[in-house]
Amino acid sequence: MKRIVSGMRPTGKLHLGNYEGALKNWIRLQNDYECFFFVADWHALTSDYADTSLIKANTMAMVTDWLAAGLDPERCTIFLQSLVPEHAELHLYFSAVTPLGWLERVPTYKEQRENITDKDVGNYAFLGYPVLQAADISMYRANYVPVGKDQAAHIELTREIVRRFNNFYGDVFPEPEALHTEVLTLTGTDGRKMSKSYNNTIELSDSPDIIRLKTRQMITDRTRIKRTDPGHPEACDVCQMHRLFVPAEIADRFDDDCRAARIGCVDRKRALADALIERLAPIHERLNYYRDHQDEVRNILLEGSRRAREEARRVMSDVRRAMQIDW
Ligand code: TRP
Repeated sequence: MKRIVSGMRPTGKLHLGNYEGALKNWIRLQNDYECFFFVADWHALTSDYADTSLIKANTMAMVTDWLAAGLDPERCTIFLQSLVPEHAELHLYFSAVTPLGWLERVPTYKEQRENITDKDVGNYAFLGYPVLQAADISMYRANYVPVGKDQAAHIELTREIVRRFNNFYGDVFPEPEALHTEVLTLTGTDGRKMSKSYNNTIELSDSPDIIRLKTRQMITDRTRIKRTDPGHPEACDVCQMHRLFVPAEIADRFDDDCRAARIGCVDRKRALADALIERLAPIHERLNYYRDHQDEVRNILLEGSRRAREEARRVMSDVRRAMQIDW
């Protein structure tokens, strides 16, 4: 069976955008591949090294959401990067074969050096971020890496590092491929891309009341001033989001009613809230369970990390042999 590896930095509770953009995909993949999904808590350190006080709680909150959303520890390995210290060892070997110029040219690096102003990212680990990511991926000899388009350059760099490593020491690692399935970017409650940093998210854990409140605040067709004005569903965040969560025939019917001004924006917002609440109901049920059983979440993470580490140890012994540091 082909291998899949992917990770998320511990950002805490997940929102609908994380779910639609990544998590739903992971849940689907766990049926058809041997999957390793992990919390990249060391990656959080590359920029948030000065204050580590939230990483643990954010890790627990995120993994709780993973399990509630349907990641199944029986079908995939769920683990914590920092509990598999072999990642650090492989990162070191990879750092030896990675030319500085490759890292300096990564577009996300240049962009973030300019844009991040609230913390100092002139540190060594920040430049090496994609080298650590290459180690995460190669540690399990991944064939595919399901990630958003924003990570394309990191996967490309991973392939280059692997190629160079294999050139020096023999064929140890496969070159992984990015799996960019379904590029769905949800719009947040303020009309911008849904993102934690914009404070415009609908979280997986939001209660029905909060969902109704947030959907009421969303932006509709800006040209539809009066209830009797014809609407333009294609230019409306609420209509577009509603379409993602109901069957196409139903969305089409709402669109027609909107264009003919048979329904108002408030009606569509209510329909969106209903659809979201229905979609999230089974997730909320599991969320309640795992919130009351945080020890179980922790044990899943520990057990998954133990399993991951067994595999990591095997691979590292191959690496050491190939590099002739197998004492
Ligand atoms: N850089 C990824 C992100 O920000 C997180 C990540 C770390 C990752 N290591 C990985 C993703 C390995 C896939 C594979 O989303």
